Amino acid sequence: MDKTTSIHGMWSSRLMFILAATGSAVGLGNIWRFPYMTSDNGGGAFVLVYLACIAIVGLPILFAEVLIGRHGRMSPINTLRGLVRDSGKSRGWVGIGWIGIVAGILILSFYSVVAGWTLHYAWLYLKQLLGGAHITDPGATFTELLASPFELTFWHALFMLLTVLVVAMGVEKGLERAVRFLMPALFVLLLALVAYGVTTGYMGQAMAFLFKPDWSEIDGNVFLRAMGQAFFSLSLGMCAMMTYGAYLPREGVSIPRVGIAVALTDTTVALLAGMAIFPIVLSFGLDPAGGGPGLIFTSLPLAFEAMSIGAVYGLLFFGLLSVAAWTSSISLLEPATAFMVEKFGIKRRKLAALSMAGLCWALGLLSVLSLNVWSGVRIFDRDIMGFIELIANDLMLPLGGLLIALFTGWVLNRTVLREQLSEMPEWLFNAWRWLLRVVAPLLVLVVLVRALL
Ligand code: PFF
Repeated sequence: MDKTTSIHGMWSSRLMFILAATGSAVGLGNIWRFPYMTSDNGGGAFVLVYLACIAIVGLPILFAEVLIGRHGRMSPINTLRGLVRDSGKSRGWVGIGWIGIVAGILILSFYSVVAGWTLHYAWLYLKQLLGGAHITDPGATFTELLASPFELTFWHALFMLLTVLVVAMGVEKGLERAVRFLMPALFVLLLALVAYGVTTGYMGQAMAFLFKPDWSEIDGNVFLRAMGQAFFSLSLGMCAMMTYGAYLPREGVSIPRVGIAVALTDTTVALLAGMAIFPIVLSFGLDPAGGGPGLIFTSLPLAFEAMSIGAVYGLLFFGLLSVAAWTSSISLLEPATAFMVEKFGIKRRKLAALSMAGLCWALGLLSVLSLNVWSGVRIFDRDIMGFIELIANDLMLPLGGLLIALFTGWVLNRTVLREQLSEMPEWLFNAWRWLLRVVAPLLVLVVLVRALL
């Protein structure tokens, strides 16, 4: 079944794949979610578990997803259908693709709402630059935004529109420039914020919070959140990387090498975000623990206000963060769109993308309303948005990853794997296969079971 091209188009080069995959991985997960998850889950211990999950569970599964994609060349569901048909294995494995598509739709629904917050903040700083009001009380500004279903819906809609625009045209167009120039710019800005953090004199304390584990803070739930965050940050467990792998040329691309590059970049950005935010939090006398989803929106504006050209920083930061979110949301929408295209015909790409984005947008209204009108509604002690986040990020992604690991490790034929990973030395290949067969599934299973019981 090994095909050389995909009906959905191909990345023009290896670099393009690296850009797209990095664009997918680096996003709100690194800069919005990682700091607040760290803040809410006890600091250093959470960070260390997260890093371990990336290395032991995430990386091997990342190779697996890209490999399956490049072998099958279709949307996840049809790639898996092809694989089980060719090998005479149970059709049940196709469920991995379904979990992926449902998880992607759920995640994009609230991802777009949060990306809407970043667009709104970019707009606030633009207005400030043009002589408008300053954000002097970030807590109040943030609360005000969340209280307005209308504002939230507007920015959520705008962001979804930007996403669907790219996906409808085919993912490569428009993506290259965004990732090649704007993402490095975001990186530089983060470095500048870290440098600012050093000048506050609180970097030492911030580093201690981030990296000195207090194991008494750790329980089954913290493990679950750290693992969920690892999957979320690397875009794993929902077949996004599998879909991107489907458009990856055969020649001259080593999956492990590319995978390691993506994971390293992703992890570096998350850690830099932590190192940028916590000195600010501490220096303004805020509590580093329990910051919640508003953390970056209530802390960074304090620093921007204290800087002489803070509005420029604010605009750049939230503008570039919106771009990072955008290159991720594209990869959230692509798997479902590719599947619809395969079902209803290649000429229907625009319609496929639009209908899936419409669905995500409508679902996103649940998250919007949970922030205000329905803020009293509680499901398992969470608001609706928190509940969707829990189900999709912390449960579905690890579950999808677990199944991908088992499928690749036990079901797929060794020759198929070896063909895709021909550059890997034999010992490393074997080690990788055992990680997928035993280590990663066991770890995910233990964490899932402990958290659920
Ligand atoms: N990795 C993205 C981030 O960190 O913001 C979010 C994401 C994208 C998750 C694509 C899952 C996915 F399939």
